[in-house]
Amino acid sequence: SGLNKVAKSKGKLYFGTATDNIYLGDKPYVKILSNNNEFGQITPSNTMKWETIEPVRGTFNFTGGDEIVALAKRNRQLVRGHTCVWHSQLAPWVEAGKFDNSTLQSIIKDHTTKLVRHHKGDIYAWDVVNEAFNEDGTLRETVFLNTIGPSYIELAFRAARAADPRAKLYINDYNIDGLGDKSTGVYNLVKDFKRRGVPIDGVGLQAHLILGQIPTTIKENIQKFASLGVEVALTELDIRMELPVTPEKLKQQRKDYEAVISACSAVPACVGVTIWDLTDKYSWVPGWFEGEGAALPWDENLEKKPAYYGIVDGLNKW
Ligand code: G3I
Repeated sequence: SGLNKVAKSKGKLYFGTATDNIYLGDKPYVKILSNNNEFGQITPSNTMKWETIEPVRGTFNFTGGDEIVALAKRNRQLVRGHTCVWHSQLAPWVEAGKFDNSTLQSIIKDHTTKLVRHHKGDIYAWDVVNEAFNEDGTLRETVFLNTIGPSYIELAFRAARAADPRAKLYINDYNIDGLGDKSTGVYNLVKDFKRRGVPIDGVGLQAHLILGQIPTTIKENIQKFASLGVEVALTELDIRMELPVTPEKLKQQRKDYEAVISACSAVPACVGVTIWDLTDKYSWVPGWFEGEGAALPWDENLEKKPAYYGIVDGLNKW
């Protein structure tokens, strides 16, 4: 009866998907995307990123994000905003690193404020800061860290809170799905924010995963974050495999999807799951990992794969 419908019947807020504006001319695709029984939430995978939103200092372009928000409204879907501050897909004028500390602080504040305020009332949650951590749990060296120091993160969170007090504010990253050094780094940041009263509401586990290599401690990791008083979401889930696809791999993928999803099902603080687009036709994976793909629950012909039923089973698990 649909992934979102099942998720909601199990007490989750939504089951969702990312999408990109460039695919919205594909009618059969948009039909699935717009089906509220399947998806109760949408994330724009590119058009709220800095290079698109503020390509030139002080010049804002909200067109693509607005289109996704309008689509979601028509379909009664929540929107996750992605993302205010990220070192990648950053506008070249920021990346060039030619600003001093106080100037870059005001640039982050201005960018975050205008982006979040523009969508005030329309966004369930923002990935305020994306991929700020190294694998060892230290902060990644970016133009932001190098110029401002660690405080650039709280600066962005405070600006986002002021701009839309009702939006949930998330820190989002990859390879923090199971327990480990990187997860501990994020955990310590959240703990510190909570202690000092810096606004933060959630942790986004991207969950870009690999066939047969699902971390075994996702549930424990979610519980650990939840113990700090924040919610958790799986924000960019996909499970990639080496091509070609075989029936055995699809069977394994079904199991893997079930395992990840059931970890979220098991913990009330895990509010929802977003897959990083719905069909293999539009997945980012083949463009990034040579010889890999087939990471999503609908195939390139928009037919449901075994993975789809793994998600259903995972949602129904508890
Ligand atoms: O817009 C151009 C289009 O005009 C051109 O024809 C086409 C040709 O390649 O490229 C298009 O831009 C691409 C864009 O996706 C839209 O498809 C960029 O080259 C490509 O780099 C970009 O990739 C995005 C990637 O982030 C960049 O880091 C993916 O779509 C997007 O899904 C992906 O999402 C990230 C999350 O934001 C953060 N976590 C990881 C995740 C996967 O990389």
